[in-house]
Amino acid sequence: MRLILLGPPGSGKGTQARRLVHKHGIVHLSTGEILRAVAATGTPIGLRAKSTMDRGELVPDEVVVAIIANRIDRPDAKRGFVLDGFPRTVPQAQALDRLLGERGLKLDGVVELKVDEGILLKRIETRVAEMTARGEKLRADDNPEVLKGRLAAYRAQTAPLTDYYAGLGLLRSVDGMAPIDAVTAAIDRILNPAAKAKPGRRKAKAAKRRSAKGRGKRAGRGNAARRRAPPARSKGRKSGRKPSRRARAKNKAGQRKSRTRRS
Ligand code: AP5
Repeated sequence: MRLILLGPPGSGKGTQARRLVHKHGIVHLSTGEILRAVAATGTPIGLRAKSTMDRGELVPDEVVVAIIANRIDRPDAKRGFVLDGFPRTVPQAQALDRLLGERGLKLDGVVELKVDEGILLKRIETRVAEMTARGEKLRADDNPEVLKGRLAAYRAQTAPLTDYYAGLGLLRSVDGMAPIDAVTAAIDRILNPAAKAKPGRRKAKAAKRRSAKGRGKRAGRGNAARRRAPPARSKGRKSGRKPSRRARAKNKAGQRKSRTRRS
């Protein structure tokens, strides 16, 4: 499975990507996480990426495309991946199409998490609180000032991707304002539409029982008669089971007797 999660900062891409990884055994490719790891190396390229990210701007397309090209060729990505934070511009999306095409691979879908911008600051504050509680290093871009820049970059450079993928017939949207589990369930339904149509085993059994009762009523039998009536499946041939040897012998003897009586 090869998927893209689209959505503004704090929309829940990382949260849902981790669940998809757990469920489908695919890898999580987050360009934000990879870039933060590169930034932490302190190399010239890492330091350049860090200052761009700390301003809430996008790292140049060629840098992230090279990262992704290298990452999808690793053995752990063979079973599939969920892209979180990539592509972020139309040229990145076109580069991804080329990368996949050259490898004979296809995208299975693009899921957009739709959220109101008004709640994003709260989400980021929640994440800061969660990371603090876990004793993790905080992100330099998780503050109200930088969030404004990240949102501006999203609107100008990333939001047009919804039209791009809608044009390719790959875009599906879910309500990212819903609770986390409900968002996960909505994504599951997109990935496995058959699961929605199939009722659970219990529901199917109950429906079968109801329709059998209905047949009894339609045939004009009252409750008492239905209780006395033999079970729907009678023993012997009709049930699909072969009659026992003893039953067959008894039956033959009966037939012989009636022939003798007739003659
Ligand atoms: P990146 O790391 O990708 O950050 P982002 O896109 O801004 O997204 P976030 O990680 O902030 O949020 P999220 O959507 O994953 O939400 P989360 O699940 O954590 O990018 C960082 C920077 O790297 C960019 O600004 C750019 O500079 C650079 N970069 C990265 N990729 C690039 C690219 N392709 N090209 C160029 N530059 C690139 O959730 C947030 C919080 O909300 C959590 O606390 C979570 O528990 C909570 N939450 C989640 N879902 C729900 C829900 N349904 N209800 C209630 N709470 C929820």
